[in-house]
Amino acid sequence: MTKLNIKKLVALCAIIPAVLSAQVGNDDPSAEQGLIGDLVNMPTSNLTSAGQLLRFWLLHVGSAISNNKLSQPECATDVCCPWYAIADDLTQLFVDPATQECTDDARAAVRLGFHDAASWSKKLSADGKDTGGADGSFILFREDERPENNGLQGFVTKILAVRAKHPGVSAADLIQFAAHHATVSCPQGPRIAFFAGRVDATEPSPPGLVPDVHDSSQNLINLFMDKTINAADLAALLGAHTSAKQFHVDEGQATKPIDSTPGIWDTNFYNETLQSNATDGVFRFPSDLLLSKTEHVAVAWEGFVGEQSKWNEAYALAYTRLGLLGVNKINDLIDCSNALPPHIPDAPGAIGGQKRRRRNLYH
Ligand code: HEM
Repeated sequence: MTKLNIKKLVALCAIIPAVLSAQVGNDDPSAEQGLIGDLVNMPTSNLTSAGQLLRFWLLHVGSAISNNKLSQPECATDVCCPWYAIADDLTQLFVDPATQECTDDARAAVRLGFHDAASWSKKLSADGKDTGGADGSFILFREDERPENNGLQGFVTKILAVRAKHPGVSAADLIQFAAHHATVSCPQGPRIAFFAGRVDATEPSPPGLVPDVHDSSQNLINLFMDKTINAADLAALLGAHTSAKQFHVDEGQATKPIDSTPGIWDTNFYNETLQSNATDGVFRFPSDLLLSKTEHVAVAWEGFVGEQSKWNEAYALAYTRLGLLGVNKINDLIDCSNALPPHIPDAPGAIGGQKRRRRNLYH
């Protein structure tokens, strides 16, 4: 399913130093991050094919982008069947038919995927409070009412309506599927492999685990390290602001985008954040300005300028980790990537771009 042949991956599995797994507790923001969830103590002989792939991706080996040939499955025999109908409903929300760009609901879905998953802490988990993470608590316990989640209320109402129509899937999976779908709905966005099987929360997530836009760079780096996300992965993830707008940081400038092309998943965000002045009409988050110049983050940040494929690959691996935080049955997940819409390689204005989108629709 990915660029890396599974046999080669299995061979690599034997030679990846065990030390990588042992580095989960390392506080160096440039360190390798190690395994999470049930994969930490799972003997490699017990890994499912999904577990093998996800183990490699968590160790930054291989590509978490899936461009499998798309086909409509026979629902009776495909456990991923519900996701095809859900994908159709989400496409209505995420793609602007006039411009072929991704919509306000798409950007909200990416932010929702982040805020649900990010509510997990390695320290709290080690202290016996292993709750939160990609567990659906955000919509199950209406965490959109928390001040740090302001702005997501409108999209939560819409995703709850999708959930009511498709009750067979977990809220946790639905939130992450929507984030993957929204990302690839933006022209040039990566088609990040999606695995289903997350278990829903039975209680709200711990508060205080979502980053504050006015916090110091050191606090932000520490916050992400406590989620097992190192500086390079943080740089890759922050690129999601390529699709973002702000509504509540400065309400006098509500609806301003965070880069000049919010409907497209391009690398303009990285370049525009590094400039001494904001591009006309663009709002820049203080946290992005700070982090883009912070040791360890800055190197990766500059390396993404103008490097779409490099960033897409890095984002896909980093997001895979993010979307598995707090998931303790990673080895049992099932690959349902086929239900995602196709990757759109060109910006809509590019020659052939819109034709290609229409030709690639999977059914
Ligand atoms: C230091 C880390 C981060 C901070 C401080 C931060 C902060 C913010 C803030 C303040 C907003 C604007 C909310 C509003 O005014 O409506 C926002 C929007 C957004 N963020 Fe982040 N963010 C961070 C990391 C991330 C990450 C890791 C992702 C995704 C992987 C992400 C995805 C988004 C998206 C897509 C939006 C746009 C939402 C919309 O337009 O409705 N952010 N972020």
